[in-house]
This record gives sequence, structure tokens and C-alpha cells, in this order.
Amino acid sequence: MSFGLKLPGSTSNLGPGFDVLGLALGIHNHVTVEAATSGPTRVTIEGEGEDQLPTDDSNLFVQAATETASTLGQDLPPLRVQARNEIPLARGLGSSSTAIVGGVLAANRLFDDPLDEAAIVSLATRIEGHPDNVSPCILGGLTIASTANTGEVTYVRALPADGLEAVVAVPDFEIRTEDARNALPDHVPHGDAVFNTGNACLVTAALLTGKVDILARAMEDRLHQPYRADLIRGYDDVCRAARDAGALNVAISGAGPTLFALTTSNGTKVAHAMANAWKKHDVTATPRVLPIDTVGAVYE
Ligand code: HSE
Repeated sequence: MSFGLKLPGSTSNLGPGFDVLGLALGIHNHVTVEAATSGPTRVTIEGEGEDQLPTDDSNLFVQAATETASTLGQDLPPLRVQARNEIPLARGLGSSSTAIVGGVLAANRLFDDPLDEAAIVSLATRIEGHPDNVSPCILGGLTIASTANTGEVTYVRALPADGLEAVVAVPDFEIRTEDARNALPDHVPHGDAVFNTGNACLVTAALLTGKVDILARAMEDRLHQPYRADLIRGYDDVCRAARDAGALNVAISGAGPTLFALTTSNGTKVAHAMANAWKKHDVTATPRVLPIDTVGAVYE
């Protein structure tokens, strides 16, 4: 059996929605998968990560597929996996989530799709550790997802109001999610939690209703960005440049270091303003205006 998968990248948190909000982006990794009858599993990678990612059983895609097979009480056959990657690694654009979602979907397909959508979201979340990148990768659009103590994920997928552009400036340095999470405190003041709860609700409402002017205030965050800003050289200046160029607001994309802005019309100008601001800090950044992916992962 062989098939292909097209898996969108994503931006998560959207400022205050730490580990909850995610948005699928029009940048994709493509994978073809073939079940073999003998020999070891082999992965070939073209594009982003081709010199960095493992090509044996320790590859994240293979690990997620193996975990899925084990959850189903099955043995994974040896695989021939060919990946063509557009999503840069360790930049906060959901690259590892595409590997996890791809592995889960591939194993599910090899065993005739026993897992339904909700089970796929929960399993991918268990492997990733949080639902905010795997959910948009699976479902497309805007996702709001929360994990219960049982591990079950409750989620809603919706389409944001028309006319929004996702602008990213992707710098030439990486941040490992683990390092970005280690920068966070164990406890936060109650007032900060209340502040973020309000803003995460407002961001969701703004995106769904199109009342995007409130994003100027609603995308403020006190749970993670203040603690992570020091990991991103030029952070304040790049954020200011995005807002000065007309962005509705700007946030760290996922765990960073990519900075993500929302705009309604002047995306290219905002993207270049962000990259230019970074240049003044000796950081080369790639500016991009990305459509919102509305379909999520698809077999191809
Ligand atoms: N919500 C996660 C974080 C996304 O900010 O750490 C990165 O995987």
C-alpha cells in the first residue's frame, strides 16, 4: 500500500492562547509512504531538515507511526517514507507537528482507519504534549483545543473571518521548543492568568466575528512572551516595526523564534518591515505572507 499526505504548518498561541489556540498556514510538508514487506524502515528527506533530521527509526514521523500502531495493538511494517519539506525546523511553525500528525495518519491508514478524528487529535496531542499545533495541522483553520486530565482533547475548529493575512518573519536561528518551555516559570500570578483568559477569549471572538480592531489589545500576553522575549534578539524592535507598518498585532509564533503578525491588507509591507527591523540586529529573516490553510491534512 502506498499513499501521500499533505500537512500544513501552523502558528500557535496567537499571543494569549498559550497551548490552546492554533491557526493552520499555507505552508506544507508532503510525505509519501509505502509499506514494505522486508528490510529496515528508511526515510528520505528533501528540503527543510534534509541535513538535520534522522532517517531511521528515530525519525519523529516513524516514532509517531510506531506509537499509533502500538496503540492499535498492531506491529508497524517496515516503511519507505519520502518527505518533501517546506516548513523550516525549530522556528515555531509547527514542523514537528506535521511529522507527528503524518505518522499518526499514516499508521491509521495502513490499518484501515480505525481511529476517528477525535481519537487522532487526542493521540497526536499525547505524542506532542500539547494540542495547539497538531489540531490545526489535522483540521485546518482556527482551532481552540484543551486537554482533559484523561488526555482526551476537546476542540472546536472554525474558519476565521475573511480577509485576514498571516504574516511571518522567519529568522535564521532556531529555538528548541524545550528551551522555550524551560524559560517559563512554574507559577504565574493569578491576575496574569485572568488577563490571559480574557484576552484568549477576545482573540477567538475577534477572529470569528471579524471585529479585528480589538486584536490591538487582545493579543497581549502575560503567560509566556514576557519570559521568552530574551531568547529572541531584536524582539521589541521587530514587534514595533510590524505594528508601525499597520499590523493588527504581532506575537511569537508558537515557541518562536518566528514572529507572526495579522493584517487585513498590507501584509507585504508588514513582512518587509519586520525583516528590515531584524536586519538592524544582524538577523537575516525571511518575510512571508501566508494564506490560512482551511482544509488541514489531506491524503494525496
Ligand atoms: N504552545 C507551545 C509553546 C507551542 O508555546 O510552547 C510550541 O510547540
